[in-house]
Amino acid sequence: MITNDRLDPLKDYAFRQLRDLLSPIQPRSNRSPILLSVGEPQNQPPAFIAEEMAKNADKWNRYTDHAGTPEFRKAVAAWLTRRYRLPEGMVNADKHILPVPGSREGLFMAALLSVPAAKAGRKPAALIPNPSYHVYTGAAIIAGAEPVYLPAPKESGFLPDLDAIAKTDLDRAAIFYLCTPANPQGSVATVDYLKRAIELARRHDFLLVVDECYAEIYDKAPPPGALEACAALGGSLDNVVVAHSLSKRSSAPGLRSGFVAGAPEAIEGFVNVLNFGAAGMSQPTLAAATRLWSEEAHVESNREIYRRNFDLAEKVLDGRYGCYRPAGGFYLWLDVGDGPEAAKKLWGEAGIRVLPGAFMSWPDHTGKNHGKPYIRVAMVYDEPMMETALKLMTQVL
Ligand SMILES: Cc1ncc(COP(=O)(O)O)c(C=O)c1O
Repeated sequence: MITNDRLDPLKDYAFRQLRDLLSPIQPRSNRSPILLSVGEPQNQPPAFIAEEMAKNADKWNRYTDHAGTPEFRKAVAAWLTRRYRLPEGMVNADKHILPVPGSREGLFMAALLSVPAAKAGRKPAALIPNPSYHVYTGAAIIAGAEPVYLPAPKESGFLPDLDAIAKTDLDRAAIFYLCTPANPQGSVATVDYLKRAIELARRHDFLLVVDECYAEIYDKAPPPGALEACAALGGSLDNVVVAHSLSKRSSAPGLRSGFVAGAPEAIEGFVNVLNFGAAGMSQPTLAAATRLWSEEAHVESNREIYRRNFDLAEKVLDGRYGCYRPAGGFYLWLDVGDGPEAAKKLWGEAGIRVLPGAFMSWPDHTGKNHGKPYIRVAMVYDEPMMETALKLMTQVL
């Protein structure tokens, strides 16, 4: 059978590597496994999701336009305006917003709509932080771009150093994925940093895609967003798309609901791609999502869960493994010396599954994988379970 050989380098993606690493190991512990490898909130989303679905149950027989419902787009525009203190009317519900079934799809489609056959006479580049969420790399490669990894080590605040990107790579860049708060490190880009990234996108004419799916999970201050930076630069959304999600904000990854917002040409590009490759979201789902974007109480209680878990991590880990309290997101990014070895020990001896940092990182030109010393730990269970897990971790490691 003929297969697309572009997919070959993507076969060993993070969770397949994890499965291959851990499947030969039988945990010695009798306790049920504790799965801290996946960023899946373990608490329940608000019960009103079911109410909204039931109220709209007569609409399951409808196809929905890709643009979703006007109510959904209005709720999102209002949320963006409130959350990022945008000038009234800067975000237009009908021109700048599109629902997507989870931010993953939006992030993936962004490469399909932005990567041309060639740029500056060369193969187009996709600028991608290292480490990062695997979807950016997959989207770039499938769309025909070459991933150019931008180191995001501790020394640069766990964000790519924008001044260190080679001009040749900026010139041939078609897309630049940024993530703030960053998965896995939880670092948050300032408005100034985002402004500089936007200016680069405009100067070198590429699409800046800012993955803000953890924007609502933060410790103290709400993380700034790229639209806020657009406002500070005068209000144009040119060359910018942000991706948001209810998966983390509302603990509803099963709802498959997010949105993209940004430059009108990009939104049109999304619609062009979606018309051929995706289904519009169902109206009952959009109704539930509309309500979730309009309510904040459940989001604040979610933030409280993660704050308590990070209090616990500070107490139990007490600075070990370079433990720090991330400004956003719900992961610990721990320097354990050898991530894959630590993951094997934690699984074998305690039934705790974590993701080795190496599986979210790509080797540099010398072959060195700078994510190798790390593990990513998703702090997604309740306090008693996290206390058990963290104490076991300190015993095993
Ligand atoms: C950085 C990042 N972006 C996007 C996503 C996709 O989430 P969803 O498609 O559920 O919105 C995830 C999921 O874990 C993620 O970690």
